[in-house]
Amino acid sequence: MYLKTTIGLILLSLASPYLYDREQVLETFFRNAPGKLNKFSTFKEYEVKFANKLRNCEDALLDEAMGLAILSCDVGRDKWNTVMGNFHNERVPSGALYIYDYSNFDLSDEAAVKRLTLTDFPSGDTDFHPLGIEYYVPTSTLYVVNHASTGSTIEIFHLSVSSLTATHIRTLKHPLVHTPNSIAAITDTEIYFTNDHYFPARENTLLAKAETYLAVPGGSVVHVNLITDSAKIVAHIPFPNGIAVLNETTLAVSSTSKPGVYLYTMTKQSDLVLQKVIRVPSLIDNLSVDANGKLLIAGHPHAPSLVTVSGARALCNSDKPEERESEVCKVRAPSWVGEWTEEAGLRELYQGLDFQTSCTAIRDTKKGLGIVTGLYERGIMVWKE
Ligand SMILES: *[C@@H]1O[C@H](CO)[C@@H](O)[C@H](O)[C@H]1NC(C)=O
Ligand SMILES: *[C@@H]1O[C@H](CO)[C@@H](O)[C@H](O)[C@H]1NC(C)=O
Repeated sequence: MYLKTTIGLILLSLASPYLYDREQVLETFFRNAPGKLNKFSTFKEYEVKFANKLRNCEDALLDEAMGLAILSCDVGRDKWNTVMGNFHNERVPSGALYIYDYSNFDLSDEAAVKRLTLTDFPSGDTDFHPLGIEYYVPTSTLYVVNHASTGSTIEIFHLSVSSLTATHIRTLKHPLVHTPNSIAAITDTEIYFTNDHYFPARENTLLAKAETYLAVPGGSVVHVNLITDSAKIVAHIPFPNGIAVLNETTLAVSSTSKPGVYLYTMTKQSDLVLQKVIRVPSLIDNLSVDANGKLLIAGHPHAPSLVTVSGARALCNSDKPEERESEVCKVRAPSWVGEWTEEAGLRELYQGLDFQTSCTAIRDTKKGLGIVTGLYERGIMVWKE
């Protein structure tokens, strides 16, 4: 009896931070329901741009010197989402990478947004479902997580902005490239990337969902040496999503199901030592770091709406008008953007419904301009500070 109680107490004490976390997440289900959502914006102005040209953009990266952003967008995500587990059997259109010239705010859609051509890419454009991308400026290397129908891969390209082409160099093959989501390049020969789940949704949707909702630390952060292609798992996290280099010594990884940002010290051996966890009042998607070293965080304040929107997109973007007018298509999933520094802590920048399903926020500090992408949204949101 005594032993049982002791074991029970130990289990309970182990579980209580866990239960606290779950309760925090559940609370957002009520507090942030679209009808009750507290909407705010700290931006001087913002606008949804290129709604007729871009859809379902997940990632965005800046090349501030050139005044360009690289966008990863996948219209196929309506019918093919290997993270959230939506699979339709019909033919799924491919996604694409785009270059957005934000140097001039008032350029026309055609002049501002251009599609990149993939050259030497084995499957051509036919099985391309880009998610996380990373650009290593010194060598113009572009890393792309591709959720291809034949299996998820990390593809390495050489980017030429002047000719608008990404030339395929090679596919990174390794058993640890399992459920890749986001990539952070450390040097020209080293990357970290996240595997968002232990159970790939494409193999077992139910187990992947259980892993998400129970916040089981089944996801991983993997370090890869690109000279030898040796890889090792350096951290286990529940649903790790975004990954970004905060400064020379610190790597930030977001957990969508926890929800928080994990800060790690990178050791000389490329292992990770946990420094701290930053709590965020939203389910976090992706991270980025601006030129002033501020961490930008984008997320989903209301998970149930995101799940509904994600599941209904194929219907709501259907060719049949009667399907597009379905009741479920009126549901919108709110967006949230915040920033964090050690000195100032967390500051919330935006929460609202004018732009839905925010997943990445980036900022050009000199121009005072920021971009938010939306996982299931038309266009991108551009803000001025
Ligand atoms: C998130 O953003 C970072 C850059 O800040 C990028 O390297 C990563 O691939 C992105 N991931 C996703 C899933 O968008
Ligand atoms: C990097 O960021 C961490 C977390 O904010 C901070 O503790 C550390 O001092 C920073 N290191 C450098 C070299 O700036």
